[in-house]
Amino acid sequence: MCYAIPGKIEAIAEKTVVVEYFGEKRKAYNELDDLSVGDYVYAQGGFVIQKIPQDEAESILSVWKETFFDLQEVDLKLSRLDLNQESVSKECLRILDNAAEGRKLSREDILVLIKEKNKSALELLFKVANFLRQKHHKNSCCVHGIIEISNYCCADCAYCGISRSNKNVTRYRMSQKEILEAARQAIEEHGFKTLLLQSGEDSGYSIEELAEIVRQIKANWPALIFISFGEVGLDNLELLYTAGARGLLLRFETSNPKLYKQATGGKDLSSRIAHLKKAYALGYLIITGSLIGLPGQSEEDLLNDIFLAKELHAEMYSFGPFISHPQTPFTGNPSASTETMLKVIALARIIDSAHAKILVTTALETINPDARREALLAGANSVMLNATPLKYRPLYNLYPLRAHEKESIEVQIKDTIGLLMSLGRSPTDLSV
Ligand code: 5AD
Repeated sequence: MCYAIPGKIEAIAEKTVVVEYFGEKRKAYNELDDLSVGDYVYAQGGFVIQKIPQDEAESILSVWKETFFDLQEVDLKLSRLDLNQESVSKECLRILDNAAEGRKLSREDILVLIKEKNKSALELLFKVANFLRQKHHKNSCCVHGIIEISNYCCADCAYCGISRSNKNVTRYRMSQKEILEAARQAIEEHGFKTLLLQSGEDSGYSIEELAEIVRQIKANWPALIFISFGEVGLDNLELLYTAGARGLLLRFETSNPKLYKQATGGKDLSSRIAHLKKAYALGYLIITGSLIGLPGQSEEDLLNDIFLAKELHAEMYSFGPFISHPQTPFTGNPSASTETMLKVIALARIIDSAHAKILVTTALETINPDARREALLAGANSVMLNATPLKYRPLYNLYPLRAHEKESIEVQIKDTIGLLMSLGRSPTDLSV
């Protein structure tokens, strides 16, 4: 299965190349040595990751061409917008009309939307977000793979099931050999073009070992590598970038410094922000966002979360509902509702229409099995599938009953492709 469409190099200006896909042109950053105009490549997240032989590219393109335009048509139909809704208040209609027209909303307007409870108004909000997603990103949907390499963590977050204080967790740490084999399978057998390596803040790997894992994957298989190892230290971010990592997933968890301290066992938000800023300066693609529904979090906090993610140059937004874990201090607190989650996703789309890739998180699917479809129709355009070896999956127990925990990667891929096709989405990363 293939998660990218081959593109043809149209122009090269130093490291920047123009790639053409079925008549559409995108810019990408090239780090390959031997690239010429006319070559076919795969690009992901704005990076050229692989050159492919012309005959192979042409045969893949001929298969894609059939479905590509059909899918776009289905998507276009599903994202049509009709703002003539009698059951929605005039004020809400005014705000949503401005949003659909691409005018900037005031903070007050956004607060009105986040506080909105009327079902028809919310349906319209989600439709506006879907309309903007289609307008700016067409029907592409990123499908990335994730490998959870270790559940050791030296942090003590009050919400998290794998925090160091939870003595009931069976800990695991994949060896370099196991990680490379999981990466090989994900890239070579399952066709992932972007792979995220994730772990708790695990001092059991030295930074040199992590860098070597990234280097080895890059040396052996064509893929864009994202990392999510927590706060590794500012200098180590540079080391991992040099090794070949090009994306950083690090949530700031909440934009509210007081709440952050409470939720993380006394840590300072500024350190997390410093990591995200440094990573951006180094050239990492930033994936960030927050936990929605933390005890004591306000609606204003949620807005600030979206604005902070934008300020930090999120290439991809990752918002997930807090889910209570019985062996943590935050046990017993309610999860955010699907409705709140969809509001946050839709507002992120409205606030950063043209730029945002927005992830449907596993936590959201855990609180609502239909959430992937609902979120994709409310502004989201990105999913991550879990390619961690099945025997380790239940041990990465951030919260109970994680969606897809027991599903093989083959089943996840099949279901995802089926859903995307039904919504007219292409499992590709073209919005670069
Ligand atoms: N509920 C939802 N998400 C959680 N995470 C950790 N614990 C929970 C929980 N109980 C999320 C955090 C972290 C990511 C790896 O998992 O936001 O950044």
